[in-house]
Amino acid sequence: MGLFRSTPPTEAARAGDDWPNGGRLQPLILVVLLAVQVTAILAARMPPSRLSASLEAMTVLAGLEAWQFRQAARSPRWQRPGAIVVQALATYLPLFLVDATWPGMGGFLAASVLVLVPGRAAWALFTAVIASLFAAVMAVGVGVSDAAYVAVGSVAIGLTMFCVRGLSAVIRHVRVVQAEVVQLAVVRERMRFARDLHDLLGHSLAAITLRAELTRRIMPTDPAKASDELRDVVDIARQAAAEMRQVADGYRNISLAQEVAAAASLLASADVDARVEMNCGILPHNVDTVLAMVLRELVTNVTRHSRARNCWIAAEQSDERVGLSVTNDGVASLMPAHRDGRGLENLAVRLEAVGGTLNVMSCGDGLFRVLAEASTRVDAHGRSAALDLCVDPEPLRRTCECCESCSPRMSPWCAGP
Ligand SMILES: Nc1ncnc2c1ncn2[C@@H]1O[C@H](COP(=O)(O)OP(=O)(O)OP(=O)(O)O)[C@@H](O)[C@H]1O
Ligand SMILES: [Mg+2]
Repeated sequence: MGLFRSTPPTEAARAGDDWPNGGRLQPLILVVLLAVQVTAILAARMPPSRLSASLEAMTVLAGLEAWQFRQAARSPRWQRPGAIVVQALATYLPLFLVDATWPGMGGFLAASVLVLVPGRAAWALFTAVIASLFAAVMAVGVGVSDAAYVAVGSVAIGLTMFCVRGLSAVIRHVRVVQAEVVQLAVVRERMRFARDLHDLLGHSLAAITLRAELTRRIMPTDPAKASDELRDVVDIARQAAAEMRQVADGYRNISLAQEVAAAASLLASADVDARVEMNCGILPHNVDTVLAMVLRELVTNVTRHSRARNCWIAAEQSDERVGLSVTNDGVASLMPAHRDGRGLENLAVRLEAVGGTLNVMSCGDGLFRVLAEASTRVDAHGRSAALDLCVDPEPLRRTCECCESCSPRMSPWCAGP
């Protein structure tokens, strides 16, 4: 539906747009750290051969680091040790060949080790890189304090790069999760829309069809009754149009009491003798709406799927639950195992939302019975608490004989003959 094609971004997603991501934050930090190291190389006042070797090594290290920014997460596993080896060469070769040292020279290598090596081995290798660098720098005749400066600078740069990469990965992950949450909300909304459309408009269209058919039949013999039926058809069509707007707004407001009257009228039009026994008081609003929808679908089903002569509608309320049962006769055979319809399935979903269940019994002797139960207990958050019921493993396939073999918990609600 076009209505759901473009979903507005959530507040969180919009806030996420302003948050620096891996594409912007990492190069910025890399450039800053690079500038720090180049400045350190220049400040060391090396002879030209050492200076050029150091700058060349820096170029290789920075290039590899930049490549890893773009590739690390996607690069094949075999490329990772290769990257570490090349970085190690660029770090140690200037040291061994021309005695070139500068503060932080092992930082990029140390960061790569932390990022690319899995598990605890990463920290062991990190320590080994720093310790070996310290020893190598000492070996070329630099004092302890200068060697320590080189090592500590490398630790600082290594940890900084590691944290920036970790932060970027977290941000990317959060964005993916945000997108999934939005997607999930869209799917839920689609399902709600489909359910509402089915349960609200499906009923109205079925009622209009039934009454229009009846009108056509009685028009020649009883024009006055036909005119009454036509007036009802117009009313139902108007009501359907109003409900269509409610579906689009995500707002449903029908009540069980109203629905009982509409059900009785629809059954009368279909020549079904309806017996109604309502023994429930004021219900929580959400339970009332759900039971009204349940009754609508069940009565529509009676008129569509049976040749019923009788229909029994009963509602009963006890301490923390309310049960609504609809039983009809005129069922040709047991309910088919494979069904295309969504009506009963939708009802089960709606009832679950108010802590309830749906039981359907196709009776072998021509009776069809549906029992909907909902919880009237409300938890601390104002939601319906789930009923403490034993769940029938195969409610849709169960049969009974004129309700005599109904389970004990069914019998209080029994409206059968
Ligand atoms: N009152 C009833 N009497 C006899 N059979 C029924 C009755 N209610 C439901 N059924 C059987 O159960 C099946 C499933 O009903 P359900 O309401 O889920 O789907 P549907 O009415 O066929 O289609 P939909 O409700 O999606 O328009 C029906 O196809 C019918 O075979
Ligand atoms: Mg149906």
